[in-house]
Amino acid sequence: METIYTVEWMKQVARQARVEARLVGLVPTMGALHEGHLSLVRAAQKQCSPVVVSIFVNPAQFGPKEDLEKYPRQLEADREVLEKLGVDYLFAPTVAEMYPHGFRTYVSVEGMSSVLEGRSRPGHFRGVTTVVLKLFEIVQPHFAYFGRKDAQQARILRQMTADLNLDTEAVVCPIVREPDGLALSSRNAYLNPDERRAATVLHRALRAAEKKIAAGERDTLHLLAAMRKLLDAEPLASVDYVEIVDADTLEPVTR
Ligand code: PAF
Repeated sequence: METIYTVEWMKQVARQARVEARLVGLVPTMGALHEGHLSLVRAAQKQCSPVVVSIFVNPAQFGPKEDLEKYPRQLEADREVLEKLGVDYLFAPTVAEMYPHGFRTYVSVEGMSSVLEGRSRPGHFRGVTTVVLKLFEIVQPHFAYFGRKDAQQARILRQMTADLNLDTEAVVCPIVREPDGLALSSRNAYLNPDERRAATVLHRALRAAEKKIAAGERDTLHLLAAMRKLLDAEPLASVDYVEIVDADTLEPVTR
């Protein structure tokens, strides 16, 4: 596996792969890799060669009071994992490479970026779409792989690729969960044992709604109330939002 630190070098490699008519796959990550990321790499390897994994903790998607400084960074360990998996290229640019002095251009998917997670994290999705568009321009992948855990992010990125007629298809892959249902996330490392136990309430709430739907319940007010009840009963949880939305428009639905 070759590790690439500069945009110019990555572009050269990508250009060459396109000239050789190879199918380029990209797995964009912020590092601190876990089994969820690795499942994306494996999906990419089934379809593409070469596969590029990018590791870049993107400052543009962190709010001023968020965890940019403490976000886990472990490039060496991540590199070893990717090497073992047989990844072709690791693209690990610096912040100065991606956002050189004087950087001014951002891309934003209107509407969808300010609802749900976007309401409590203003600017977050603008940072995500900007960096992902830059990565697409640099790596020129045919396919790029994202986890369904970040459902809103995945929907927004698909909208961006369609709206901007990009040559990259965003592939959305299944969530990978711990045996007790918690979705894998690099940020789970922040949780102490009590918080880790409490975090399963997210999955339990979703399961409760799923069970009610299977039993015929269709009124979203009832489904939301059932989820709220479980979430509110967990003292270590504080809820930003619970909503049931149309998967395509991200607008709330009543049934
Ligand atoms: O999902 C993530 O890890 C990030 O939002 C992404 C897509 C790598 C952009 O920084």
